[in-house]
Parts: sequence; structure tokens; C-alpha cells
Amino acid sequence: MSLAHPDAERIAQQYLSSLNAEIVARCGYGKEGVVFKSSRGTAVKVHSSSITFQNEYLAYRRLAETRTQVVLGFRVPRPIQANAGLKIIEMGIVEPPYLLDFGTSATDIKPDFSPEVWEEWWGRVQENFEDRFPIAEAVYIHLKRKLNIWHLDLRPSNLRFVDDEVHL
Ligand SMILES: Nc1ncnc2c1ncn2[C@@H]1O[C@H](COP(=O)(O)OP(=O)(O)O)[C@@H](O)[C@H]1O
Ligand SMILES: [Mg+2]
Repeated sequence: MSLAHPDAERIAQQYLSSLNAEIVARCGYGKEGVVFKSSRGTAVKVHSSSITFQNEYLAYRRLAETRTQVVLGFRVPRPIQANAGLKIIEMGIVEPPYLLDFGTSATDIKPDFSPEVWEEWWGRVQENFEDRFPIAEAVYIHLKRKLNIWHLDLRPSNLRFVDDEVHL
């Protein structure tokens, strides 16, 4: 279920008020969240579901534990603070090339997909990235092997190259 933007804005503002900060712009949005730029110089992502919040929270905790800032040249946002009640993750703002959006990631538990589902999934990643597919694949494998994170939403808006047009 997606969250109407005015609701997300109200939630982000509520979160930021307690930090004496405010929304200064909208950073972007996708399937699961709306992201605002704050006056603290951070990105505030408001999730529409507790599940995607939790997935992303676990992934950012792993990234923080391992002090991961860059994955194969793609910047990863620095997690700053989370609020489970509001389903908010506050993080650093990154410029392309970047890797973000761990809302459907699995951390430590391998997704229970059938071989057919995996095949279909890889087919979609291939379509999304075309000739850059080997890079997307390398990022996926790196995250899995080094951090035990399965990034399941590999698409150009989440794994952004410098000179890309963005497709959500
Ligand atoms: N930390 C960040 N720094 C810069 N831009 C961001 C950041 N987080 C999100 N964005 C922008 O907001 C968009 C939506 O964020 P994302 O985490 O992908 O949400 P969703 O899970 O809804 O797809 C991204 O594609 C990107 O353009
Ligand atoms: Mg996204």
C-alpha cells in the first residue's frame, strides 16, 4: 500500500519537529516510500509499511556495523537514525553513483524463491540494466557475499550510475 504524499509529509515533519528541523524539499519517491530532504542536511524516508521499514532497518544496521560507505564504487547512504513508530529512516544524502533502497532486501535470511522465480527475477534485472547488467550483478554478489544482504530491488533508480536517466 502506498502512502499519500501529504501523509508522508506530515509524518516526516512530525519526526523532524522533535529535532528542531524541517522539510526543505522532496528528494524522491518510489513504491514503498517518500523521501524528504531535511534542514539537517539529511534524507528522511517515510515507509508505507512496517515490513519494508524493518527490511531497510536491518540492512542499514549491517552497513553501519561493517562501516560500508561504498559498494564497488556506488555510494551507500550513511544511516543516521530510525523511528519504528513513524516508519522513518533518516540517512545521509548521496549523489550518483549510488546504491540505495533496501526496503525489499533480505538480511541474513536467504529469500525462499523457487528456481523459476529466481530465473524470472534475474531476467528482470537483465532487462533493467541491459549492457550494464554485469555491474549490477557484481554489486548484488558483493552485497550477498560480504554483507549477507540480498538486494531484491535492483533497478536503475536504486543502483544509479552517474549519467543515467532515472526510471522508477
Ligand atoms: N539518501 C538519499 N540520497 C539521495 N536521494 C535519495 C536518498 N534516498 C532516496 N533518494 C531518492 O528518492 C528516491 C526514492 O527512494 P527509495 O529509497 O528508492 O524509495 P522506494 O523504496 O519508495 O523506491 C530514490 O530513487 C532517490 O531518487
Ligand atoms: Mg526505490
